[in-house]
Amino acid sequence: MRWMPALVVLAACGESPKLPVAQLEDPTTCMECHPAHYQQWSGSMHAYASDDPVFLAMNKRGQRETGGQLGTFCVQCHAPMAVALGVVTDANAASFDPTALPAGARGITCYFCHDVDSVKADHDNGLVLALDDTMRGGVKSPIDSPAHHATYDSQMASRTNNSTMCGSCHDVVTPKGVALERTYTEWQATIFAHDDPANLLPLTCSGCHMISSTGVIADKPGLDVPSRDQGFHDHSLAAIDQALTDFPEQPAQAMAVQSILDPALTIVGPRPVAGGAPPGGICVEPLNGGQIRVRMDTISTGHMFPSGAAQDRRTWLEVIAYAADNSVLFSSGAVPDGMDPEDLHDPMLDCSGAGSNACSGFWDRTFKDDGSPAHFFWDVATVQSKLLKPPVTLDPNAAGYDHSTTALFQVGAVYSQIDHITARIRTRPLAYAVLDDLVMSGDLDPGVASRLKTLDSAGATRTWTKATAGTGPAINTFCNPF
Ligand code: HEC
Ligand code: HEC
Ligand code: HEC
Ligand code: HEC
Ligand code: HEC
Repeated sequence: MRWMPALVVLAACGESPKLPVAQLEDPTTCMECHPAHYQQWSGSMHAYASDDPVFLAMNKRGQRETGGQLGTFCVQCHAPMAVALGVVTDANAASFDPTALPAGARGITCYFCHDVDSVKADHDNGLVLALDDTMRGGVKSPIDSPAHHATYDSQMASRTNNSTMCGSCHDVVTPKGVALERTYTEWQATIFAHDDPANLLPLTCSGCHMISSTGVIADKPGLDVPSRDQGFHDHSLAAIDQALTDFPEQPAQAMAVQSILDPALTIVGPRPVAGGAPPGGICVEPLNGGQIRVRMDTISTGHMFPSGAAQDRRTWLEVIAYAADNSVLFSSGAVPDGMDPEDLHDPMLDCSGAGSNACSGFWDRTFKDDGSPAHFFWDVATVQSKLLKPPVTLDPNAAGYDHSTTALFQVGAVYSQIDHITARIRTRPLAYAVLDDLVMSGDLDPGVASRLKTLDSAGATRTWTKATAGTGPAINTFCNPF
């Protein structure tokens, strides 16, 4: 009995017995002592992942259309504990009721992220759990917790984890071998993945998505816990998606989505080599008989934008040019609410074939084996990707240093009548075509689509006016002065 001495030592230290693993699997157990973490997580897409009606509809349909071959492929990421505990298996993966799952198996739980022992693959959830009562985190020397053992794990701390834990789920290779969602792969090619401590790099997934603040990280009355400098990490993990059914913390999630999106994208000119303010991102020029040029840049995204589920997202540039009397002289990408951008049949949003370099519809086009459009994972044979790019090098002379995207609109002679222009980058979490397809097959409630929002980013909502063009930093250009 080799383990006996260890047990004796622990007992001798007077350490209290911990809660059984089955109890630690339930996030409401954690709520008692980590109420702020719980509250943020409860409204997150991680908590929502197996309640998400679009996920359930797609999973159900995929099972049907592949004759069950999908098995637990989708559920292993959207409710990983359900698969680990055997509550969802190949046999019921098509028909499980998420609301009937025990709390410890629903969505991506606290226990799942905090019990990772090792990462065996960098895609399709290659995380291996210890299934023990030790909670791993980025806190050095945690005080004794009455509920669980606690330990510092460099694979959890944002400064040192190299994004592997998050990355393993945020990278989907389909059963057909298509690298469909590539957030982790994309991140690895950015400057943020460089090992360069002098420049505070690497900057990992959690480094950007789990902003830290100072405070106590466990605050049940009676616990004597010190305040920790930058010790609390945000667990709301907001980005694009919001719950499409009633769910906790919806106003807080909506605010968090807006606050990460607002500074993420910009319409701005290139920064001058000599320094100073960049000239504007919208320019109206006599070239080629008259053209509008809009330069778009990502500022703080650590991967493409959109990323991940980029086949379902729709991001596009809307440009409207007005005469002095406010009549519209030219417009592109003015997509009405309720319509998909591709249904506008605007050549600028097409991004396939010739001239696609200067186009402005940013999402992944996916195709079946026969070349027709694919709406769903299991049908996808090829991906044609047109996305906004992140910074990949700090060397100003290297190719790719300027990672911006410029859209060019040939407007012809009206250019001389243009008085002002509005431009904005808009994003929708899902295409209506995908939702309609799921409604038609009877897998999705038709009410879900009405909850879809179109998001704008403050940094990428800009105007150009004739009166101010070519002034200030934009002197000697046809651009707006910011
Ligand atoms: C490797 C882990 C993984 C697998 C496997 C996986 N997903 Fe996801 N899924 C994710 C991640 C990560 C996101 C969030 C992506 C983002 O926001 O860019 C996501 C988002 C989603 C969303 C919401 C965003 C959207 O596309 O509207 C749906 C729906 C979805 N997945 C359905 C499925 C279905 C159906 C399957 C199986 C055919 C599946 N997923 C398989 C990880 C996975
Ligand atoms: C009875 C109270 C209590 C419960 C219940 C509880 N914790 Fe803790 N937890 C603590 C205390 C106390 C600490 C140490 C805080 C400190 O040192 O600042 C802690 C620390 C942690 C840490 C930091 C570990 C490290 O070193 O980075 C993590 C992660 C954690 N808990 C996760 C959880 C999760 C997940 C649950 C639910 C399964 C949970 N806790 C339930 C009291 C609790
Ligand atoms: C077990 C797999 C898994 C792990 C581990 C995981 N995620 Fe996720 N994540 C998902 C899934 C699945 C979704 C989408 C759920 C949905 O919308 O249906 C998601 C959603 C998100 C979103 C919201 C995306 C959006 O478009 O709104 C962000 C941000 C995010 N994850 C970041 C992270 C970070 C950072 C980590 C590491 C600390 C991490 N994830 C670890 C599976 C995972
Ligand atoms: C998607 C994975 C993920 C999920 C789900 C998750 N956490 Fe965390 N959590 C992390 C990561 C990563 C850190 C470490 C951040 C760092 O140190 O940079 C962390 C840190 C913590 C800490 C240490 C203090 C801090 O804020 O750094 C506590 C306590 C904690 N989490 C509790 C919880 C609880 C309770 C839940 C569920 C209600 C939960 N976590 C859900 C990934 C997750
Ligand atoms: C340099 C900061 C930074 C880093 C590093 C970073 N992200 Fe992001 N991420 C952002 C910003 C900014 C956005 C865009 C804001 C939004 O979507 O509202 C974003 C968006 C996302 C989205 C939603 C994208 C979509 O279109 O569905 C997911 C999912 C995500 N990040 C996950 C990750 C993961 C996983 C990693 C690590 C592999 C990571 N991020 C690294 C800043 C970062």
